[in-house]
Amino acid sequence: MAAMEELLLHFTNTTTLISTFLILFILYLVSSSSSPQRKEPPGPRPVPLLGNLLLLDPKSPHTALYELSKKYGPVYTMHFGPKKTVVLAGHKTIRQALVQNDAFADREALPIISDLKLTHGIVFSNGDTWKEMRQFALSSLKQFGMGKRSNEEKIIEEAQNLIEVFQRNQGRAFDTSQPVSYAVSNIICSLIYGQRYEYDDQQFRSMVDQAITNTQLMGSPSVQLYNSFPRLFSWVGARNKLLEGASANRKRVAEIIKSLQETLNPHMCRGFVDSFLTHKIKLEESGKMNSQYHDDNLQISVVNMFSAGSDSTSSTLRYSLLIMAKYPEIQDRVQMELARVIGSRQPRVEDRKDLPYIDAVIHETQRIANAVPLTVRSASRDVTFQGHFIRKDTPVVILLSSALQEEAEWEKTYSFNPDHFLDEDGNFKKREAFLPFSAGSRNCLGESLARMEIFLFFTSLLQHFRFTPPPGVTQDELDLTPVVGFTLTPAMHKLCAISRHL
Ligand code: HEM
Repeated sequence: MAAMEELLLHFTNTTTLISTFLILFILYLVSSSSSPQRKEPPGPRPVPLLGNLLLLDPKSPHTALYELSKKYGPVYTMHFGPKKTVVLAGHKTIRQALVQNDAFADREALPIISDLKLTHGIVFSNGDTWKEMRQFALSSLKQFGMGKRSNEEKIIEEAQNLIEVFQRNQGRAFDTSQPVSYAVSNIICSLIYGQRYEYDDQQFRSMVDQAITNTQLMGSPSVQLYNSFPRLFSWVGARNKLLEGASANRKRVAEIIKSLQETLNPHMCRGFVDSFLTHKIKLEESGKMNSQYHDDNLQISVVNMFSAGSDSTSSTLRYSLLIMAKYPEIQDRVQMELARVIGSRQPRVEDRKDLPYIDAVIHETQRIANAVPLTVRSASRDVTFQGHFIRKDTPVVILLSSALQEEAEWEKTYSFNPDHFLDEDGNFKKREAFLPFSAGSRNCLGESLARMEIFLFFTSLLQHFRFTPPPGVTQDELDLTPVVGFTLTPAMHKLCAISRHL
């Protein structure tokens, strides 16, 4: 009897097993035949644990990603360690994904971002928090002059300060990085806090220097390794340094916010922080408390605007000066156009339309500087894009550098060639593949501010100085190869700023 039961049990188990396999097999056939769109993007074969990490050159990962797109197409799968990621390359694909599609507007929740508690604010938040904070920041920055004449005045005043600092070097070679960073950070300080700082103010200097260090650490290979293998690499030094640096920065921001709160006059807002605090009070008074207006969202939005707005802009500006020293004949043409159209008066934003060569030089500088070579999003839902199935929550790399360096688009892709942005008659010409600020609903929030800053700082400096390599260094020796971090920055270099007599 027992043997009979055992046989029956065995028979039932085997039948169950076979039927389960059959059902799964049929389901597989049905799913793969009825929905061919579920084909995931192709890509290099991953090796266990490391995925495709060995294909990336740490000195220029964005270049390696672009090369892979030539083999696997503009939508491909890449394994960063065990993490399956989709890469989008080429300007047409990027525009189609970001402008004509709403599935890629979320940010990926990277381990380091969670550690730094950066999921509030603007840059790394999603959903209602992102919508409310981005909208509020945009309207507040516009109110304080972003893209307007009042802001133009602030930038012109700051450019005068920068000119004075450059003049103090009396033509001797100096490192442009600190003064340029202080000038650019002061513009953000004016918009956010309603005040600028002297370049020798110790608190200001350490705030800016720390923000730069944090951005570099964030993009360092060891922090990237930690993002791919959070359990294995939580001990890396760069991560711990970043946690310490970010916490020191947050503390400083909290102190400044506290002092602004103590002197707040809701009828006379000085900047973004005052607007936020005033809006919060109004909501409380009207009983319509919006849960987004809390300290974390305020502090992190402030930190976000400093980190997103300073490094990228100062890197582009430093590149513009380095390029002038490297290509003196282009500098000649810039200065000739300035002399012909502006003379010795202060350049203004409205002059831009009359300065097509300078406009082309600035666009070409941004193309070559490639300050933000990629941005990482995440699929907010299951989506089929260009025939490829991308599962919800898959990280999506938007490879902006692949548009800026798309070989089929740019006549001289790897040279500095302002003609890319000029027509046969010397008029400025827009290019579709020019995407340094990204595109769509989650593009750069500070684009109009950055464009205004780069134009006014560049023209004011070029009006006052001739930029040359340090004595003993040839133009050919000036190296444009960037240092790779969260943003790309020019390698440490010195330049001479020789005063011109206007
Ligand atoms: C040359 C200068 C700049 C460049 C090249 C640049 C580029 C970018 C890029 C590529 C993104 C990513 C967009 C995406 O994910 O698709 C971004 C985001 C952002 N940028 Fe800029 N940026 C610059 C200057 C600024 C400035 C001056 C500000 C100041 C307010 C700023 C604030 C932001 C913010 C807050 C975001 C996050 C937007 C969001 O997630 O909704 N940027 N920027």
